[in-house]
Amino acid sequence: MTKTGTVTVAHVDLTPLTARETEARRWLDEPERERWGRYLKDGPRRRFALCRAALRAILCGRLGCRNEHLTFGASRHGKPFARVRGEPAPVSFNVSHSGEHGLIAFAPDGRLGVDVEERVARRDLDVLIEAVLGPDEQAEVRSAEGRRKIHLFFGLWTAKEALIKAQGQGLAFDMSRFEIPLAMRRGAKTSPFRFPEAPGIRWCLVDLSDERFAAAVAYESRDSVDGESGTLAGDTGRRPRSTLAQEEVLHRKHVESGGEKGLDRVARGARDRFVEVVERRVQKRGNAGQLAKPLEQLKQGR
Ligand SMILES: CC(C)(COP(=O)(O)OP(=O)(O)OC[C@H]1O[C@@H](n2cnc3c(N)ncnc32)[C@H](O)[C@@H]1OP(=O)(O)O)[C@@H](O)C(=O)NCCC(=O)NCCS
Repeated sequence: MTKTGTVTVAHVDLTPLTARETEARRWLDEPERERWGRYLKDGPRRRFALCRAALRAILCGRLGCRNEHLTFGASRHGKPFARVRGEPAPVSFNVSHSGEHGLIAFAPDGRLGVDVEERVARRDLDVLIEAVLGPDEQAEVRSAEGRRKIHLFFGLWTAKEALIKAQGQGLAFDMSRFEIPLAMRRGAKTSPFRFPEAPGIRWCLVDLSDERFAAAVAYESRDSVDGESGTLAGDTGRRPRSTLAQEEVLHRKHVESGGEKGLDRVARGARDRFVEVVERRVQKRGNAGQLAKPLEQLKQGR
């Protein structure tokens, strides 16, 4: 376990082990078992089951509740939140998995996001560099070679994903529209961060990378200024400081405000741009690789 501020990050070992997977499945509820059964490939199925069971164990410990009383909902962009006996649970968490490593970040309150990626050489690296990095970041990564290029790219990617997962929109948010602070690009392990469209909200970004993987966690800083100008288009700007399942509160606001209206103007533009960049590359190369699934999801959400 790593502790940073009020956030704790737990590592989950995702190496294949039948006994562990069998035990993990016993922790899942009916909807989760159904989801488990829908996975076509062993890897994603194992990662989901082991991380979800570990998450359940952590949350039960934190909340002092029984596993059978714990259920999960999801915001409109898929970010999970917890309920105990159907009521929003006073805990904040986020999960990421890649290869043999899972990370679970949790805290008493505040939005947070975590991302982990094993540093594997990828044929679609050029596509990803263009799709997720800003101009200065692209120049830095393109000027590096070999392992250094891979390290730089995955460091930036995980930092950016941690931020957009904390913010909650996932890949619907165009990651090339913001850049990781220079201090972190020069090796600092932690830095404050503000999205250009929402300067009133201060995030704390922490690099958790080690020799096994690139990883980062981002969490909302306590001194964010509620209601300050410059929040994301359509966002209310006001956020409950101490949250009961903040994602659920936001989710309800989306539902009340009629879904795609308002908040998603920025996200829709970003999503369309992302789809265009990737489709152009896919046409050129004839292969969507690992982008195929998120690309399809995003297109369906258009
Ligand atoms: C969130 C997202 C960036 C994760 O990408 P990834 O690097 O492939 O996956 P990671 O392992 O880092 O994270 C997956 C976990 O993030 C969490 N997650 C899912 N959607 C999320 C979101 N919008 N924000 C934050 N976290 C999210 C889940 O816990 C998921 O794990 P689980 O399904 O096993 O519980 C990507 O899946 C995404 O953008 N999803 C949203 C797609 C969307 O908008 N869907 C709308 C219809 S639901």
